[in-house]
Amino acid sequence: MDPEPLLTPDDYEEWAREHLDKPTYDFVAGGAGSELTLRENRDAYDRLRLVPRVLRDVSGVSASVEVLGSTLSAPLYVSPIGMQRLLHEDAEMATARAAKAAGVGMGVGTASTVVMEDLAAVGGPLWFQLYWRRDREITRDLVERAAAAGYDAIALTVDTPVIGRRLRDVRNRYQRPPSITYANYAKYEDPSIKDAAGGAPTYYVAQQMDQTLTWDDLAWLKEVAGIPVVVKGVMSPEDARLAVEAGADGVMVSNHGARQLDHIPGTIDMLAEVVDAVAGEALVAIDGGVRRATDVVVALALGADVVAIGRPVLWALAQGGEPAVTTLLNAYVSDITQVMTLMGARSVDELDRSMVRRLSRLERVP
Ligand code: FNR
Repeated sequence: MDPEPLLTPDDYEEWAREHLDKPTYDFVAGGAGSELTLRENRDAYDRLRLVPRVLRDVSGVSASVEVLGSTLSAPLYVSPIGMQRLLHEDAEMATARAAKAAGVGMGVGTASTVVMEDLAAVGGPLWFQLYWRRDREITRDLVERAAAAGYDAIALTVDTPVIGRRLRDVRNRYQRPPSITYANYAKYEDPSIKDAAGGAPTYYVAQQMDQTLTWDDLAWLKEVAGIPVVVKGVMSPEDARLAVEAGADGVMVSNHGARQLDHIPGTIDMLAEVVDAVAGEALVAIDGGVRRATDVVVALALGADVVAIGRPVLWALAQGGEPAVTTLLNAYVSDITQVMTLMGARSVDELDRSMVRRLSRLERVP
């Protein structure tokens, strides 16, 4: 008998838990510290409910939107995730082709195992995720390469001045396998750089990070890039405002998939405040714990312009490479459209905050 089909992101994760070696599974699945925030990224969605509207002529629903000059089949991105060769030999190339096939966007990591120019050649909406190196000439070159290759935006990750303490990796003594190299760094140095003993796979990248960065540096980045800049890793509305004032074209509400600072809120709980702070002056994206199509619709209703998904894409990549990622992303697009139809929203514009309620956690019984 054929195995049951994998239908949901959780099905892919279950497959990965059963089939990947434990240290690799843990590296992807894990979060920082006690993993309170990892759970909270999910629990926060579980406390929200959608309130559908009816009798609104939903004969022609479309989730299609335009984001930073690209048309998407839904406001959906794959979060930037480095080192995808850990999961499948086709790595980021498989993900890029699948995203293009599904008509959604992709974030390409500085720590990609496929060089950014080859991924740009696939086409499709792409953001280049930047880890700002201490060597500013390398940073400049990475940004100029992304702009020259046709990336739609630079997503500057700002939540990683040091790497989070991920206890699963420490316990597993997890090390980046020698076959995994930093393709984008090949131009500047040996891309197979040895990590320090006990270092998690991204240890080297994090070690090179410029910890002196402030909002003032954003102007330099904007000028060098010449393409939109999105600040990834904003949790506070005050920082969202500073990002807008510093000239950012977008902010991404993200806690790095709960891999950096533990004990912070689930991203969806901060979204509405950030949306209000930005006041329509910049694009607002969100990631962290987005699993169901209904999660995507909740985030859109609370004001996100773009919703991104991380780990589920990696589980699908591990399970079946490009075809599996294509199946997963196509399912998201069609499920989002179905949820919008049942919500009475013909386009993403018709989703708003009146369609979401939050459960209160503990109440006296009257
Ligand atoms: C990440 N993330 C990440 N972010 C980033 O800016 N640069 C990076 O290189 C990586 N690498 C990375 C590796 C792995 C294995 C994971 C799981 C995550 C964070 C990523 O972009 C995104 O913010 C989260 O993955 C979103 O949360 P979910 O959807 O995975 O819960």
